[in-house]
Amino acid sequence: MIILQEQDQIWLNEVIGKLAHKMSWVSEKSKHKIPYTTIDGTHDNRITDNPNGTVTNGINWWTNGFWGGMMWLMFHETGIESYKEIANFSEDALDECFREYYGLHHDVGFMWLPTSVVNYKVSGNPKSRKRAMHAANLLAGRFNLAGGFIRAWNADEASDTRGWAIVDCLMNLPLLYWATEESDDPRFMHIAMKHADTALEAFIRPDGSVHHIVEFDPFHGGIVKTYGGQGYEDGSSWTRGQTWALYGFMISYLHTGKKAYLHAAKRVAHYFMANIPDNGIIPIDFRQPKEPAYEDSTAAAIAACGLIEIAKVVDPYEKDVYLHTALKLLKKLDENRCDWTTGSDCILINGSSAYHNNDKHSAIIYGDYYFMEAVFKLKGNDLNVW
Ligand code: GLY
Repeated sequence: MIILQEQDQIWLNEVIGKLAHKMSWVSEKSKHKIPYTTIDGTHDNRITDNPNGTVTNGINWWTNGFWGGMMWLMFHETGIESYKEIANFSEDALDECFREYYGLHHDVGFMWLPTSVVNYKVSGNPKSRKRAMHAANLLAGRFNLAGGFIRAWNADEASDTRGWAIVDCLMNLPLLYWATEESDDPRFMHIAMKHADTALEAFIRPDGSVHHIVEFDPFHGGIVKTYGGQGYEDGSSWTRGQTWALYGFMISYLHTGKKAYLHAAKRVAHYFMANIPDNGIIPIDFRQPKEPAYEDSTAAAIAACGLIEIAKVVDPYEKDVYLHTALKLLKKLDENRCDWTTGSDCILINGSSAYHNNDKHSAIIYGDYYFMEAVFKLKGNDLNVW
């Protein structure tokens, strides 16, 4: 349980007030959308927009669960029915992905945990259970027995991705833990734990930092090579990837009780905390050149979620370092990187999808989602989506 100092509690109450105000009008404005980013102050809509003209950027875009997840968090906080209705709209729209069955990959956890699994937990809706079980089976089907990993992405013109696992996948594993908890069938959990065990061995470096992509031999297993992925270069340290590992291993620990996952989460957390710059702004990659000072606000929000979860389970004498760092990150976002005005639909500015992508320093929906989740965790009103 999190107990805050008085001045932190005052800050938290203010932020919750600002979130409630912002979401009251943004949710209404975007109620027929599933946003990914904000352009000229207005949410885009991944139900219909397909920015790159490919089949993977529309309704099957991997971030399409987060807006529904934000609506569930707000419903849980306020009890206002319209939030639930908007969440349901997202979840219904996602059915198109199952119907067409194109472009889905390991990120089905990001898509159906904050939507269908939450809906099922909150309302018992049997249709949501079916959707989530369907997604869990798709994820389980990506497991490569020889390598002991879940395949990340699908075939790509540029690279042969059959042997690719990526650190982000740790955040999809809770869909498998949920499927076992729900069906009493241990297959899903075996796959999740096998993948997490492989990740312990293959992704974490001796200093506690993590690779983004590890390629295994898809026929015989064994590591072939590593890639820098969305970070600066191979051997660098993509900050959002560090946070997927930090929070992801922690979630595996919470579902399984396996201490190795807690130790891994703490190791990555220590690496992350030791590398936070003095100004508290998280770069895209801890090993990027100093200039340009590219940053990624989403990494700060995700890190805060993981650090709060660690703080909840460690001994009292240990917990302050995690909690204080989480508070520092969130306060910095609130003061410098949150847009609380009515001029823009997003909450967080300065998210970056990848070091070498063009859409740096833009609004990204999962930044907003994890900021909100972290705030409600501090309040003790989390939905335990993962
Ligand atoms: N899961 C992909 C990313 O974090 O950008």
